[in-house]
Amino acid sequence: MNETDGKTLTCGLLAHPAGHTLSPLIHNTLASMTGKNLVYVPFDVDPSDIGDAVKGAFSLNILGMNATVPHKEAVIPYLKEIDPLAKNIGAVNTLVRTEDGTGYKGYNTDMTGLKRSLANQNITIKGQKVIILGAGGVARAVAFLMASEGAEIIYVLNRTVERAQEVVKEVGEKVQGSRFVALSMDEYDKIPSDSKYLCVQSTSVGMHPNNDKAIIEDPKFYELVHTGFDIVYRPMNTKFMQLAERAGAKVCNGLEMLLYQGVDAYELWTGCSITKEQCDIVYKAMCD
Ligand code: ATR
Repeated sequence: MNETDGKTLTCGLLAHPAGHTLSPLIHNTLASMTGKNLVYVPFDVDPSDIGDAVKGAFSLNILGMNATVPHKEAVIPYLKEIDPLAKNIGAVNTLVRTEDGTGYKGYNTDMTGLKRSLANQNITIKGQKVIILGAGGVARAVAFLMASEGAEIIYVLNRTVERAQEVVKEVGEKVQGSRFVALSMDEYDKIPSDSKYLCVQSTSVGMHPNNDKAIIEDPKFYELVHTGFDIVYRPMNTKFMQLAERAGAKVCNGLEMLLYQGVDAYELWTGCSITKEQCDIVYKAMCD
């Protein structure tokens, strides 16, 4: 834990419950490495208190906050400003003091973190053919990122096809440019097999303790995939990743996305530029 004094800057996490989280490790390590007198503290905030918590944080001169489940949507009414990507997604995970110092501006670094994690693997989204598995809140956000960054075509597959159709309609209306197709999870044979796809597994299927499950078990599906990105990071090598890798795809879990959502937030709060070497040190600490 960093030493504190009257000049210590505070950042924190709005969570409920605020049990296991890697965010203090990420931010307190970044603070040490960048020589900032800054501490990061998780706060367990009851959903009924979220407005008071945001106002209280501002009054306490808290530099920045993260918001996680169940507060990512609930904080929005208490913000002074909102970044366009976060607005489209309808979820905010990072609060930054506005330039005029009158409140907080909301960002979604979960998705910029995903973007940066992909860039780190040398994967650009622009012009990419994409398959998104799932149609919940995370999948919706992934669809917004992919469309905003100019993916050529986006297939959204979901067990409940109606939810996939809703995502396709909503994202397609708000962000122009990409083509969208909604399918049920077992309709992957309708995806043209003359191309390879970036596939983002955006459900909780395969998360610890269900390590032996993959959202699609058929090895044939994975022949469509050139890169398999799983937003799950526990276990580190998910069944989805194993199946994709077996079919020759490059694979990545969600731990790097978690790292970069933190790095993006830290940079927004402090104005620091975190180097690749510094990111690698934090990532290693997260794996320990
Ligand atoms: P989140 O906001 O974390 O994305 P969510 O809105 O509950 O959570 O969405 C969960 C996603 O995982 C959905 O796409 C869900 O499919 P349905 O819309 O059909 O429910 C998917 N999902 C969860 N468990 C699943 C399972 N066992 N098999 C297939 N899909 C599953």
